[in-house]
Amino acid sequence: MYLEKQKEVKKMITVIGSMNMDLVVDTKRVPENGETILGKDFYTFPGGKGANQAVAAARLGGNVHMIACVGNDSFGTELIQNLNEERVDTANVSRSSDKSTGIANIILSENDNRIIVVPGANYELSPQTIEGLRDVIKASKVVVMQLEILPETVKSVLKICEELNVPVVMDPAPAEFFDKDMISGVRYMTPNHYECEQLFGVQLEEALEMYPNQLIVTLGKDGVRYFDGEKHIHVEAIPTNAVDTTGAGDTFNGALAYAISHEYALYDAVKFANTASSLSVEKLGAQTGMPTKEEVEARIARLNK
Ligand code: RIB
Repeated sequence: MYLEKQKEVKKMITVIGSMNMDLVVDTKRVPENGETILGKDFYTFPGGKGANQAVAAARLGGNVHMIACVGNDSFGTELIQNLNEERVDTANVSRSSDKSTGIANIILSENDNRIIVVPGANYELSPQTIEGLRDVIKASKVVVMQLEILPETVKSVLKICEELNVPVVMDPAPAEFFDKDMISGVRYMTPNHYECEQLFGVQLEEALEMYPNQLIVTLGKDGVRYFDGEKHIHVEAIPTNAVDTTGAGDTFNGALAYAISHEYALYDAVKFANTASSLSVEKLGAQTGMPTKEEVEARIARLNK
């Protein structure tokens, strides 16, 4: 039992990133400038790319530690409680006394989403805090990040991970905060098609060839692609009954981190993450549809028949 526990600790996945309350409006169409329309529904869901990735990895059975900052308000309390219920360690989720919890304004319309994030307390997570958590990073098998926290905090994590030789999975979203200096510190980078274009300004194939086995691009209905150094690898999308695609990318990243921490070969890790992501879109809310490992394996087995 003790040995089992020790093995799990070694596989610790540390997510350093955002926690938001998602304020979701479901509407037939998006209003024009100056226009008021009536929406269909309104929901609140726990979200934030960081927290979503943490929940995705934890549901699969990962030993997940979250480093983040929320406000001293009811949203902050709810978000921490939600992570605790998902078995994510929140010992290093701090609370800001002067910034409110981050929120995301999400519009669901025409089978897609549009998201505006107000970072709030997410921007209180500082490089100094990260420096004080070196031991947590050192104990991690993999660190997962996105760009909804301060770019300087992201850079300090990358520097420490490089020094400690801890691999980083980075979802470079929102892409506008990505800085090319970040690439060298990242083991796997997982933009979607739009983000990839925004980041590298070249055709997909060209970008993939620049970063073999490092750049993994998620393409929604067109699956996932990467370049293995000799050939282009295409993992096909899995047909789904998509209800809400919010959090599909986060599920992909959380599942990829889980697979990497459990030493899957890259192709198997991508296939596993792609399958997890296909399951996640079948329910409303970023985290609601995130699958267990058994559910992912069952879908893979069904597809292999
Ligand atoms: O990736 C989806 C997430 O992006 C949402 O949960 C929202 O909070 C934003 O961070």
